[in-house]
Amino acid sequence: MAFKKTTWKSILPGCFKAKTPPSETKLPASKQSSFRRVSLSDLSNSSFSVVSDLSSSLVGSNLHVFTLEELKVITHYLSKSNFLGEGGFGPVYKGFIDDKLRPGLEARPVAVKVLDLDGKQGHREWLAEVIFLGQLRHTHLVNLVGYCCEDEHRLLVYEYMERGNLENQLFRRYSATLPWLTRIKIAIGAAKGLDFLHEEEKPVIYRDFKASNILLDSDYNAKLSDFGLATDGPEGDDTHVTTRVMGTEGYAAPEYIMTGHLTTMSDVFSYGVVLLELLTGRRSVDKSRPSREQNLVEWARPLLKDPHKLERIMDPRLEGQYSTEGARKAALLAYQCLSQHPKSRPTMTIVVRTLEPLLDANDIPSGPFVYVVPTEDQKKESGVLRDGHEGENESDIAKYENRDEQKDEDKKKKRCHRQRKGHRYRHGIKTLRYRAVYSDTALYKIHGTSLYCTKPEPLPERA
Ligand SMILES: Nc1ncnc2c1ncn2[C@@H]1O[C@H](COP(=O)(O)OP(=O)(O)O)[C@@H](O)[C@H]1O
Ligand SMILES: [Mg+2]
Repeated sequence: MAFKKTTWKSILPGCFKAKTPPSETKLPASKQSSFRRVSLSDLSNSSFSVVSDLSSSLVGSNLHVFTLEELKVITHYLSKSNFLGEGGFGPVYKGFIDDKLRPGLEARPVAVKVLDLDGKQGHREWLAEVIFLGQLRHTHLVNLVGYCCEDEHRLLVYEYMERGNLENQLFRRYSATLPWLTRIKIAIGAAKGLDFLHEEEKPVIYRDFKASNILLDSDYNAKLSDFGLATDGPEGDDTHVTTRVMGTEGYAAPEYIMTGHLTTMSDVFSYGVVLLELLTGRRSVDKSRPSREQNLVEWARPLLKDPHKLERIMDPRLEGQYSTEGARKAALLAYQCLSQHPKSRPTMTIVVRTLEPLLDANDIPSGPFVYVVPTEDQKKESGVLRDGHEGENESDIAKYENRDEQKDEDKKKKRCHRQRKGHRYRHGIKTLRYRAVYSDTALYKIHGTSLYCTKPEPLPERA
């Protein structure tokens, strides 16, 4: 098969000083199968101005090259009110591309990730995202629309994901509890994304699988984002790749931490951690808990195989409204994914096959629908249910949470004060302030969608 000859200048034209007119900056689209995927190992990390004459290209990627000024304009000059979130790379802002910006680029909301020039990440992570997401397209991977590479500036432009990341949806104090079937739907979507990467002709190891890197669209379809740490898997007879240990505490596989040996099974371990988070509603590491419960895997794994003990660790916010049989199967699967021995873990294909039937559960108790209606003031304050959504704006949420933390702090001070004065302090009964509790069917009714049916149908537009 003849490969198309490409140079870095044609792959990443925006990074070079030559001013390319916008219409020429779109990469050629054609069938991926006739080209070899460019891998990170094909490239020199130090400088791609010396990397040229590559015998492959980012074919079919359809990536757009934006100028820094364009991205500033569409995000209102990276305004705080457009802030969506932040990880190690830098802040992410919501932007809106109108149909006049580029011929062939439809009007759409996007998310723009901006490299923090004082941060710990940089060109290598940016390049990994362009290389992997530019070439790999799948329903369960976030769509990379384009990038910007001007002088030292590095930005990435993705499709906008309405419900943000799974971490916020699962753990944020003011969001409605994710119902059981939604959790399973998310677990399946994320598993399909990983399975796709692992089953590529040249497997890709994602390496940073965690709740904050799983994004959700309006219908809770999960997509993997943040390919900054992704890397090519072992080739030929190699059983693993050896790398510097990078990833996130609480999610990284034990053998990878110990030896630096990375395989697709390291991702499977991290997947098991996220599955456990979905079951228990607990974070992989939570320093605010008693010491033996701080590491979720250490605490929960021994309890996963025993159905009686399992009940004790299921997320109390589910209020018992889950399929017992489904929970057992998912728990057993999590147990296998979290095996100390990589070879004992299931492949992601098996994970998908095991989870899919769980959507057909018919043993979910249909408990009473409890919906705590917030007052107008509470609605304003919490940001919950704004426009019928959970609060979308991370900066608002952070603001409210900070405010609440401040209140907690004030309470603590008062408590200390009372204790010092010899008063006996008693905890008040926690009320369901701002919290809406839904059952699966209730959410289905509210949204008027088929989200919670086993056979998905297209969603009607929400008002
Ligand atoms: N496409 C997107 N749509 C909506 N929110 C996003 C999008 N991409 C990122 N975010 C938000 O920004 C956060 C950080 O993004 P991520 O790509 O994980 O950055 P980092 O590489 O710094 O970890 C995410 O957890 C999410 O809350
Ligand atoms: Mg991230």
